[in-house]
Amino acid sequence: MSGKVSRRQFLNYTLTGVGGFMAAGIMMPMVRFAVDPVLKPAKEQDMVPVGLLEKDITTEPKKVDFKVKQVDGWYKSDEPKSAWVYKTDSGEIVALSPVCKHLGCTIDWNSDPSHPNQFYCPCHAGRYEKDGKNVPGTPPLAPLDVYDSDMKDGALYLGKARPKGGK
Ligand code: FES
Repeated sequence: MSGKVSRRQFLNYTLTGVGGFMAAGIMMPMVRFAVDPVLKPAKEQDMVPVGLLEKDITTEPKKVDFKVKQVDGWYKSDEPKSAWVYKTDSGEIVALSPVCKHLGCTIDWNSDPSHPNQFYCPCHAGRYEKDGKNVPGTPPLAPLDVYDSDMKDGALYLGKARPKGGK
């Protein structure tokens, strides 16, 4: 067989090439649409209003429940969250995560009569000071996470809960 390309072969190659090009042009946006949410870096948690006014925040920790919009790939949901919120003697607003740093149980304020004015974890008797610091000798080895917080028009907004002292 000679090295010449017949008219039929030339047409076959050309049409296959053009067809492939067109198919890629159609498929690329579809593939991108399908994969894009997975490739996007996770967005920083937005600050959300938690339904608590500054005037209602006292020096006594108060539990607030709120929801944050969660986007995981294609899946969107409202995730329930909670925080223990209080005002320090110097007027600073503190919002602590209720998730115990030992094994993730939910802590409560002032619920252990033998250790008043502390956060208490009923799972393994973990304790934290009011500022979230873990009490030495109890199971938790780290302080409670602290929410980013902001006050807008007299209402409390919370963002991401971060390890104390972390960013
Ligand atoms: S989970 Fe809280 S003390 Fe163990």
